Amino acid sequence: MNLPLVSAEPHNASSNGLVTNAVSVQYKTGSQSVLALSDCTLDIPRGSRATLIGASGCGKSTLLRVFADIVQPTSGSATLHGVPPADARANRLYGLVQQGSTMLPWRTILSNVALGLEISGMSRSEREARAEEALHLVGLKGFEQNYPSELSGGMRQRAAIARALSLRPQFLLMDEPFGALDEITRDRLHIELLRILDETKATLLLVTHSISEAVILSDQVVVMTPRPGKISQVIDIDLGRERSLDMRSDPAFVAYEAQLRRALNH
Ligand SMILES: Nc1ncnc2c1ncn2[C@@H]1O[C@H](COP(=O)(O)OP(=O)(O)OP(=O)(O)O)[C@@H](O)[C@H]1O
Ligand SMILES: [Mg+2]
Repeated sequence: MNLPLVSAEPHNASSNGLVTNAVSVQYKTGSQSVLALSDCTLDIPRGSRATLIGASGCGKSTLLRVFADIVQPTSGSATLHGVPPADARANRLYGLVQQGSTMLPWRTILSNVALGLEISGMSRSEREARAEEALHLVGLKGFEQNYPSELSGGMRQRAAIARALSLRPQFLLMDEPFGALDEITRDRLHIELLRILDETKATLLLVTHSISEAVILSDQVVVMTPRPGKISQVIDIDLGRERSLDMRSDPAFVAYEAQLRRALNH
């Protein structure tokens, strides 16, 4: 497959980004079964920034994992740029930051970040150059040879984001990447993430519990209902491409937060 490493399409140039068609997921454990997702149909345009929001257990991680080819739909289908998740995974089209992602404690930050590139058969010098570049993007220049325990929680989280970025993905799939961070670090990483997305033109799908985070980061917010997880609404956040932390006190921003809160209470 001859796909470009980084999408050059401008925002809204085409749809056909992250698409699901009537996806349902039923988990079976022993005699129990849980319908985690029911009939989810979604179309997130290529190059846009989308967040998934909804109550705990409503299936947000499950939907993200369907795109990442970690969970197989019981029925329905999903594609990324028209490519099935298994092919997207094989061609490393996406970078994944899992919920509560961790670093291997015995490896340096550089070699943790380079880990995702090892399986691709890339030479060590190329892997390390790519990992270094990704660490610089998230502001961790100078910490390459440190071990995870020597970094703060926020820095480790940046390293997890760098690990996803080192693949130079067309899609960034992030499951509550900022959940465990303090507000100041989270604010800084929001702005960094927006800058990185502008630079790489990657499509973002991010899971969050934070209404304010959803508004500041998104072109679309996908609101999910509690079990079985369904998509109840997709709300366009029409605040332009450029975002800043100051926007959070703008009346339009506050109105979106209220709209989301109402949608979540439905
Ligand atoms: N591997 C699994 N095996 C069995 N059931 C699972 C599995 N993963 C998730 N579930 C169930 O599927 C439902 C959806 O889980 P999921 O992790 O997708 O929710 P979530 O919206 O990400 O929740 P949270 O906000 O708490 O992370 C839950 O009821 C959960 O118990
Ligand atoms: Mg989850």
